[in-house]
Amino acid sequence: MKICITGAAGFIGGNFAHYWFNHYPNDQIIAVDALTYAGNLATLKPLMDQANFTFVKADITDGSTMAHLFEQYHFDVVVNFAAETHVDRSVVDPAVFLKTNILGVQVLMDLCRKYDVKRFHQVSTDEVYGDLPLDRPDLLFTESTPLHTSSPYSASKASADLLVNAYVRTYGLKATISRCSNNYGPYQFPEKLIPLMIQRALNDESLPVYGQGTNVRDWLHVYDHCSAIDLIIHNGKEGEVYNIGGHNERNNLEVVKTILKQLGKDESLIHFVKDRPGHDLRYAIDPTKMEKELGWKPVYTFDKGIKETIDWYLSNKDWWQPIVNGDYQHYYETMYKDRQ
Ligand code: NAD
Ligand code: DAU
Repeated sequence: MKICITGAAGFIGGNFAHYWFNHYPNDQIIAVDALTYAGNLATLKPLMDQANFTFVKADITDGSTMAHLFEQYHFDVVVNFAAETHVDRSVVDPAVFLKTNILGVQVLMDLCRKYDVKRFHQVSTDEVYGDLPLDRPDLLFTESTPLHTSSPYSASKASADLLVNAYVRTYGLKATISRCSNNYGPYQFPEKLIPLMIQRALNDESLPVYGQGTNVRDWLHVYDHCSAIDLIIHNGKEGEVYNIGGHNERNNLEVVKTILKQLGKDESLIHFVKDRPGHDLRYAIDPTKMEKELGWKPVYTFDKGIKETIDWYLSNKDWWQPIVNGDYQHYYETMYKDRQ
């Protein structure tokens, strides 16, 4: 099989490229990434010399470059991880989110139609459902929960989902969508909660917790996200949406305290800062469809996954230190200066 993985130098796309290479060593992988601030080729380093792995620097919104790639490789499957993904950045500057997350998906789908790609898989997010109240633990997102977005990021992802559905219905595009909860694991860019808190705690820097730290996220190890997408690509039904999550709800304060405990650092590092505008209260996924129809089961508990992840950041400082020492410094100062 020839599989095109877009956004492959990012967190989940990178983990997925490793996953696919390890599980399907006879497949040809074409990894595409524009290498924005979030893309890091160091993530793909172990794959770069492999005969069946090719990396191409390309922007999914660039129709003519992408058309050349489709013409050259005639992909069997295209799985799209390429996106602008950080909610806080979308609040400051929405334009690039709309461009990549909506128009980029249109470019990919038009080419999948033209080259009769057997499967286009769109990696979406649980954020398209908006949020759930904190005092109703019985409520979970199902695939039929209405789309109800809060941030420019989530609105752009929901727009793409609607476009995918339209292409399935109007053109018969062979497509699937997955909506996963918050991922954690190796190679995650340190602007996101877990790697941000790990690297700052290691440096004895203050840990900026938004609001009261009571917002809840449903954490899934990135490996379990990859195995779910694998099952959808192989056995999922065209035109269907699949929710992915492992019932691992934690509030942000609990997550930060877990990190501090494992690192042997003091809770006095925690600083409550101004809340994120439009901050979603709680996400929680009902993964029944994945479990019943595709037999998916996560292998990680949160306790095991977070421990391994913290250990990974401790052993792989050479992966994240160049990031936090570079332009990222400026990002952190700008993004957090008004939150104190
Ligand atoms: P990330 O920000 O770590 O990586 C995104 C990658 O896309 C980067 O390598 C970047 O260079 C690349 N990219 C950005 N714009 C591009 C463009 N125009 N053309 C080509 N490449 C481009 O993001 P992530 O956390 O790995 O998320 C991957 C996907 O999974 C996204 O679609 C996101 O919406 C979705 N998702 C993420 C999570 C999560 O918790 N991180 C959960 C559910 C769904
Ligand atoms: O649910 C899936 C989504 O999860 C993905 O679609 C997004 O791409 C991904 O970024 C993530 O979105 P969140 O906004 O939930 O993730 P983030 O790591 O930015 O924040 C997690 C929680 O932690 C959220 O409630 C905000 C809070 N937070 C975050 C940061 C960066 C803080 O309290 N302080 C911080 O400095």
